[in-house]
Amino acid sequence: MIQLPNHTWAIAGGKGGVGKSLLTVSLAYWLGRLKNDVTLLDGDLGGANLHTMLGLRIPHCTIDDFILRRVPSLDHLLLETALPNVKLIAGGSDVPALANPNFGQKTRLVRAMNAIDTDFLMVDLGAGSSLNTLDLFLAAPNKLVVLTPQPTSIQNAYGFIKAAFFRLVSRGLRGTSLQDLLDPANLRDEGAPQSAEEVLQEVAITEPGALPDIEERVANLKIHIIVNMVRAPKEERVGPVVSEVCRRFLGMETTLLGCVPYDPQMEKWAAVMDRESFVNRTAEGGALRASYDIAYRIAERTKNKDSTATKWIA
Ligand SMILES: Nc1ncnc2c1ncn2[C@@H]1O[C@H](COP(=O)(O)OP(=O)(O)OP(=O)(O)O)[C@@H](O)[C@H]1O
Ligand SMILES: [Mg+2]
Repeated sequence: MIQLPNHTWAIAGGKGGVGKSLLTVSLAYWLGRLKNDVTLLDGDLGGANLHTMLGLRIPHCTIDDFILRRVPSLDHLLLETALPNVKLIAGGSDVPALANPNFGQKTRLVRAMNAIDTDFLMVDLGAGSSLNTLDLFLAAPNKLVVLTPQPTSIQNAYGFIKAAFFRLVSRGLRGTSLQDLLDPANLRDEGAPQSAEEVLQEVAITEPGALPDIEERVANLKIHIIVNMVRAPKEERVGPVVSEVCRRFLGMETTLLGCVPYDPQMEKWAAVMDRESFVNRTAEGGALRASYDIAYRIAERTKNKDSTATKWIA
């Protein structure tokens, strides 16, 4: 599948309600304040709600319009938001079949995402590990996984990262006998390899020619982890634990991008969508303050690879 441009960040998490969308909005807010053009894309194709979070009740155009070829490019769908320098491409909802676009539609979408002229493209993904979510996640050069200290969230986040790993490997084995075995849909089957070591051993035996390419793909996976809704310092340890599990069982290096405290004000803000209260809280610390540090790191990492994303210094 085609890759998205270097300034793209995809935000996923496996579990629902961990704060992916709110964090995406907070990061976009800060990147916008740092004088970057930011485009938010609601990639939650089955349950789009980013527009609601930004105070837009019923968006007059959505990504469905592009998938259904009512508009020629995603630029036609850019909606102004109340946040400075932040535009939104709203997710669709009226055509349930489009929650599951086919390969051709996905390829066209990713190609169109490449054509958006922006400093940062932030893609908010839905919960779960559907193939569409995994494919958009894998197409983005920068990947963010959000989790909370809850055991179910930790499990789902690791499950999501593992599913992404298997999807990546299985795509490198297209047309071979191993592809089905490694498909995320078959992961629970008895006899399916569970660790990266087992997978790569299997590839080395059955499809040795494919091994170098797969190893390179895995080495290039750049997964960043954010722990959200942290209520006590000891909960911050969840990040390093997930990182260690990824290293041990998937042979994958992940980066901890930061922790965001549990902040009752965020819930209130999400409920009323009041931009003023959101913006005026910046000095108080809490979740928005922590998102600033993370946004800064994101800008720094993107800047190193992409010369268009340098305005943050201004
Ligand atoms: N740091 C935080 N402190 C307190 N509440 C938070 C925090 N982050 C998110 N929330 C709250 O958690 C709820 C879920 O947030 P959000 O919709 O962003 O999650 P999500 O992961 O995008 O969910 P979904 O999977 O349904 O898309 C919201 O009510 C939000 O206000
Ligand atoms: Mg969401």
